[in-house]
Amino acid sequence: MPPAAPHIPAGAAVLVVGAGPFQLGLIEAVQARGLRVVVVDRNADAPGMRAADVAEPCDIIDVPAVVAVARRHRVVAVASSASDAAMPAVAGVAEALDLPGQRPAVIQTCRNKLLTYQAVAAAGLPVPATVAVASPAEAMAAVDDVGSYPVVIKPRSAAGGRGVSIVRSFSELGPAFARAEAAGRGSGVLVQGFVGGESVGVEAVFWQGELLDAFVLVDTYREGFVSPVGHALPCPWPAERQAAVAAAAAGFAKACGLTHGQANFDLRDAHGCTTLIEINPRSGGSNIADLVGLCWGIDLSQVAVSLALGEHPGPALARTAPRPAASRLLLVRGRGPLRVPPDPGAPFEGDAHVHRLRLGVRDGAPAPMAVDDWSLLGDCVTVHPTVEGALAHAERVALAVEAGIHADPLPPAP
Ligand SMILES: Nc1ncnc2c1ncn2[C@@H]1O[C@H](COP(=O)(O)OP(=O)(O)O)[C@@H](O)[C@H]1O
Ligand SMILES: [Mg+2]
Repeated sequence: MPPAAPHIPAGAAVLVVGAGPFQLGLIEAVQARGLRVVVVDRNADAPGMRAADVAEPCDIIDVPAVVAVARRHRVVAVASSASDAAMPAVAGVAEALDLPGQRPAVIQTCRNKLLTYQAVAAAGLPVPATVAVASPAEAMAAVDDVGSYPVVIKPRSAAGGRGVSIVRSFSELGPAFARAEAAGRGSGVLVQGFVGGESVGVEAVFWQGELLDAFVLVDTYREGFVSPVGHALPCPWPAERQAAVAAAAAGFAKACGLTHGQANFDLRDAHGCTTLIEINPRSGGSNIADLVGLCWGIDLSQVAVSLALGEHPGPALARTAPRPAASRLLLVRGRGPLRVPPDPGAPFEGDAHVHRLRLGVRDGAPAPMAVDDWSLLGDCVTVHPTVEGALAHAERVALAVEAGIHADPLPPAP
């Protein structure tokens, strides 16, 4: 890794917003450049607090407080990884200290799905018909405006698929509205046309308005869970189709004003037309960083540091020959205390195709994360000579682990 750009003195401080497990790679990558890490997180026990050179207990959603920390340490760059909650503070610091990075207005557009829709539609690019609604009755009226069933009901602002429902009939509208309203915490509810076609993700790297690289990800689903449960690389689609999807992502970013840094896109592709479902103005998550690293030999944390410093990532984006890899979330339907057998991952210990199997559950305790009525148990990452093999093995591991773990179903909504 080259040293920091000439204008960055050795030992200068870089602010990392958030100190959770997703930030550890970023913290290491900053330190590997001979720079100091100042980290902010309200949780004094977060793992990144120990890894950083300076740990400042501070709630990352308190943007003025994070800006004050940044000023006090005279940071020369600001970054975060895979965190929606961190992005307003990252952008707030970048603006206040005039550092490389997206400005707050762009983050606001991308985090609010109505504003995203309006920006993309105004640029004449494909986005699902979208109507903001304030009641189940308005949602019912909006079904005709966006097409017909199925429609999608979702919060205007949330993440991880929380509160998103594919609604197939009138009787599902009311409960879906209630879920979206609860998950959006007052942000509002949207009714959207359902977009068919193949689900595909793009992890993209922008530098000063230019799309430097795009990784087109295969998405996998499981019955009943609305978001992708897995991804794989390399995408087996022909290079021209992948290039068209990447070009579409660049267009969506431009429409939303996103010009610099990492971004992650949820897309639907059909008959040469790529429709935007969602643009996340941040890296896509630790699984995706792992897949890019395993498949293409690229360390996205190093790329993130270069982008935060305003440098072209250059050789950090050089690809090796592809090595297929797949990820899969592990999840069970139900919430509350889990019944977990002793060592549920044991059958896959020493499995050469399992790169990582991460389980964050204990018998008798609830899962650390939940999405609607699903408990998230952990994830696995597999490698295999073929992408189909990597996907199949990830599925096999997931089904075996999930079969042993139980949660009580949520009581039906009143
Ligand atoms: N209009 C739509 N048409 C088809 N599928 C959709 C639509 N909106 C959302 N989805 C599906 O639901 C998932 C979650 O929705 P998304 O808008 O990405 O919410 P979140 O921000 O919570 O990830 C998407 O990954 C996609 O699979
Ligand atoms: Mg999404």
